[in-house]
Amino acid sequence: MTGTDAADAGGGRDSAARVRELQALLNHHSALYYGGKPEIPDADFDDLLNELKALEERHPELVHPDSPTQRVGAPPDTAFAPVRHGPPMMSLHNALDIEELRAWHERVHRSLAASTPVPAGEQALPTMKGAGVGDLAVELKFDGLAISVRYENGVLVRAATRGDGRTGEDVTHSVRTIADVPIRLRGDAPAVLEVRGEVILRLSTFERLNARQAERGEKAYVNPRNAAAGSLRQKDARVTAERGLSFWCYQLSYAEGGPAFTSHMQTLEWLASLGLPVDEHAARLADLAAVEAHVVDFERRRHDLDYEFDGMVVKVDDLATQARLGVDAKAPRWAIAYKFPPEERTTKLLDIEVSIGPSGQATPFARLEPVFVGGVTVGTATLHNEDQVAAKDVRPGDTVIVRRAGEVIPEVVGPVLSERPGGSEPWSFPPGCPVCGEALRRTEGMSATLCVNYWCPRQIRGRIEHFVGRAAMDIEFLGERNIDRFVTEGLLGDVVGLYSLDFERIVQMEGFGQVSVNNLRGSIEASKQQPLARLLFALSIPEIGQVNAQVLAASFGDIDSILAAGEEALAEVEGFGPIIATSVRAWFDDPHNRRLIEGLRTAGLRMEAEEPAAAEGDPLPQTLAGMSVVVSGALDGFSRDEAKQAIVARGGSSPGSVSTRTTALVVGADPGTSKLRKAEASGVRVIDEAAFQALLETGLLP
Ligand code: IVH
Repeated sequence: MTGTDAADAGGGRDSAARVRELQALLNHHSALYYGGKPEIPDADFDDLLNELKALEERHPELVHPDSPTQRVGAPPDTAFAPVRHGPPMMSLHNALDIEELRAWHERVHRSLAASTPVPAGEQALPTMKGAGVGDLAVELKFDGLAISVRYENGVLVRAATRGDGRTGEDVTHSVRTIADVPIRLRGDAPAVLEVRGEVILRLSTFERLNARQAERGEKAYVNPRNAAAGSLRQKDARVTAERGLSFWCYQLSYAEGGPAFTSHMQTLEWLASLGLPVDEHAARLADLAAVEAHVVDFERRRHDLDYEFDGMVVKVDDLATQARLGVDAKAPRWAIAYKFPPEERTTKLLDIEVSIGPSGQATPFARLEPVFVGGVTVGTATLHNEDQVAAKDVRPGDTVIVRRAGEVIPEVVGPVLSERPGGSEPWSFPPGCPVCGEALRRTEGMSATLCVNYWCPRQIRGRIEHFVGRAAMDIEFLGERNIDRFVTEGLLGDVVGLYSLDFERIVQMEGFGQVSVNNLRGSIEASKQQPLARLLFALSIPEIGQVNAQVLAASFGDIDSILAAGEEALAEVEGFGPIIATSVRAWFDDPHNRRLIEGLRTAGLRMEAEEPAAAEGDPLPQTLAGMSVVVSGALDGFSRDEAKQAIVARGGSSPGSVSTRTTALVVGADPGTSKLRKAEASGVRVIDEAAFQALLETGLLP
């Protein structure tokens, strides 16, 4: 039986009571729904809503302004109709640095001094008492869309966008769905009230929205501001309601019949008392020095909040002083927007290229027209993998949004579709490796595309780079550039070749002298004594990161025992199991690898564990005692579990999320954005895999 039947079947039931009950019930469920915790299926919600609509149609006198039927309805005829604002919606002048903020304050000061009426019989002085700027109100500059909302006798009657400042568009139907915007004001509401504020999308809501887009196979929104704009300009208010917009009110524009005020901060307090959402960060400060400290503080805490703000707005607090200063053609003279350096800019995507990593991973990246963003000039940005390019649908020739927030690596957020040149095609992965030309491969179910040619020069170099690394054989004086030169000039073909380098030739090469060659020779010689665990890690064996290399060496003691071990014995190794055992066995059975090991043995490498097989459970040096290290994204040398084990084995902890107690966040490929944002917000160091390896060994951050 549907609710409507029930109401009718009830016959004598009190419709007014049922209407009130339904209104309360629906408000309760819609709050749960928009809070992300619905208790009833959408269809049940719709049944209740339909029952309420039917009852309200029959009894229009029972329609209450805050009835859910008034919040979400069919698109009204007035959607987007022009709305003439009362006082115009002005813009703000910008200050791009502290100097410009001081210049504004100075201008305000001078202008007040010039306009101060000089009492009869006194002489005007350049800085007169009474000409002071007085207190300043400092607020966040919300990064959303400005709207004007009008209440009559406490009831929301109209909401409009800024438009050209004089005339905006009617978005009442959308704004009614925003839970933060009261449909009826609390307390003693004035006859007419017009307030200005910003519609925004909270970051947590934005992430939820994009997760849902991904689930539905739809494109992600580029940023909260764009998503908020798109959501507000919806004809169907149900769609707006689903998006979960928020609102911050920052300015009393016009009131009839309200109390009299002398300061801007008083007006904000009053608006808050009427139930309008006023941001708690608004502050009244006595002088410019305090304002400067305050804005710099907020610039540092820019990523602490759940919504974006791109600067701070400084307003003269005293309303009489505001009136004396007045406005110019564009903006009030009594306010200024102190803008933070931009973290998002648009630029041209010149091309999408593919780079090959040391273990053959093919990573698409954007070649950009250089752009200054987040404090640096950015010319390239990673695009992670094929799916990411497809999800963003960025194409060479597009104008794209580039973002670099905090210290994080720059990313291409998405294309500006309105500027897409005609005839462009979606990008597709090139079929061949840009280094060796062999076919690239992508295994089903995996996000990575790989060059699987063992002899690809990039991989040869990659294996050598890994072999000489600090956590591996620790061979110094041999950077990536020299490895590249040696490989290109045919001096080096694999890691065995390191032990028979032609130093006579190297000493002739540009950039080398006898001293540097001796250093290199000494370091290579010393590496022969490295213990087995380091050698096993250095060999780039799949699944063998530092931790597994250590347990493998400790379990078998020397290389011959490993070569002789069957899959079952390998599977017994702590933390291995059958999958790792099979992969390790396969690697040691490969004739290439056998030859490699024999070559290294002939070269004189030690190939034994440090001690005669460490007793089980021997602790590693506790380099990370008391530290908390969080890992995000895919690392090359460690699986997620191995990285955790490596941290824990050294006395540290590795929780799943970042907090202010986190020592460092290690980021690999495709790190989680929420962890990155949190790290930035909490001032937690973000490090890459190389720094992580150094941290494991030394306990020190770079
Ligand atoms: S006051 C007449 N206060 O910034 C005063 N504006 O760049 C006009 N904005 O159009 C605005 N946060 O959309 C003011 N705390 C704040 C603000 C703010 C964001 C926006 C607003 C305005 C734009 C001007």
